Amino acid sequence: MSATDAVTDALGELHRRFAGVREGRPADYIPRLAQADPDAFGLALVSMDGHRYSTGDADVAFSLQSVSKPFVYALALSLLGLDEVGRWVNAEPSGEAFNAISLEPRTGRPANAMVNAGAIVTTALIPGIPGASAFDRILGCLGRFAGRDLDVDEEVYASEATSGDRNRALAYLIRSAGPLPFDPVAAVETYFRQCAVRATAVDLATMAATLAHGGVNPVTGEAVVTPAVAAQVLAVMATCGMYNSSGDWLLRVGLPAKSGVSGGLIAAGPARFGLAAYSPPLDSTGTSVRGHAALVELSLRFGLHLMNNPALPGSTVTLATTADDLPTAPAGRRERALRERVGVVAAQGALDFTAAERVLFALDDSGPERTGSVVLDLREVTGIDSVALAMLHAGLARLASDGRRAAVVDPDGRLGPPGLTRERTGQDLPRFASREEAVERCAHALAEDD
Ligand code: DON
Repeated sequence: MSATDAVTDALGELHRRFAGVREGRPADYIPRLAQADPDAFGLALVSMDGHRYSTGDADVAFSLQSVSKPFVYALALSLLGLDEVGRWVNAEPSGEAFNAISLEPRTGRPANAMVNAGAIVTTALIPGIPGASAFDRILGCLGRFAGRDLDVDEEVYASEATSGDRNRALAYLIRSAGPLPFDPVAAVETYFRQCAVRATAVDLATMAATLAHGGVNPVTGEAVVTPAVAAQVLAVMATCGMYNSSGDWLLRVGLPAKSGVSGGLIAAGPARFGLAAYSPPLDSTGTSVRGHAALVELSLRFGLHLMNNPALPGSTVTLATTADDLPTAPAGRRERALRERVGVVAAQGALDFTAAERVLFALDDSGPERTGSVVLDLREVTGIDSVALAMLHAGLARLASDGRRAAVVDPDGRLGPPGLTRERTGQDLPRFASREEAVERCAHALAEDD
């Protein structure tokens, strides 16, 4: 028994709770999918540290179907950029079924890259290169998201190739309605192959976790796509990933997600986790019934809804006071009077926009007078992103222009090289290894000013 078994236990409990659900039926418009085991049911979760948790049939391979769409969209965005991809496929929820014969009236563009029409266009946009066909590039990309080489379920591919006339019709319609120069036969063939790529629920959770982790696969460490592309894909999954149930899904579960007609379902908690379910019986929107039920419950139980994500108060600023209040303050009256004019702010953890605002507020709040000094203690800070760094530099520059001297306790150089700090803050920010040294220096400087 280990502590993390608690996570596996939570998945196991959901598995037990929903394994007996008998609603829904496996897809049969692709004949091979109708042969799926209706009792198969697996759940998997992959954390941002690459820890994998799973229960049930999480190692059973099945074809990705529409779960492939966000990842091929990611590849297209990486190769061509959002503006070029957006010329050919929009990013508006269609409110229609995944296989709707429907294009934007004026432009002839599909509504988004999650419905079949949009996914066929996305696939058609992937260029082959010498030595690698479009499909080779797609398969390679899907494998990088999963963290291992994937292959094609040839039976599922052949089954869709014999029954996929609706998608062929869509491809011809797209060519006739818009200016995209593409070969409908080749595009649909590649699209069918990408839908037949085989993976397990654990693979799917890793793929979702890679999107949630800014495009870096948390298991292999490989940067598969840029953070910007990962965010773009998650945005389209959030608004369009569940087709005509996308609004209800975002309302109740609150996570970017994608369903597939073989019974796969993924959801991503940005910067938190990737989730996947596998269970073939589907509801009327083509979503796994058990997968849907399990993810609704998981979101409720673990508070995963994106719109219900309160920042934990007090987790950034650990100290905001004046130096006379520190336990190290000497007893002398004059020293205490000087120390009263030295604010001390200590921060911890990783600093982003939200955390940096808290630090800046505490800096303002820590000094009883504008002529005093302030010590910013960053020893417990584990990282500062570029936005937070620019904010801290700008805040320190404002303090300096208000006549308030600042010193930092920053043995790890979190504020960047001294040249950059000087340029951005307009001052030679003195840096110290210990808080007491920084306070002493500030108090001493105030004494000299008097
Ligand atoms: O194009 C199709 O119809 C299938 N290959 C994929 C559709 C799909 O998975 C819809 N998702 N729920």
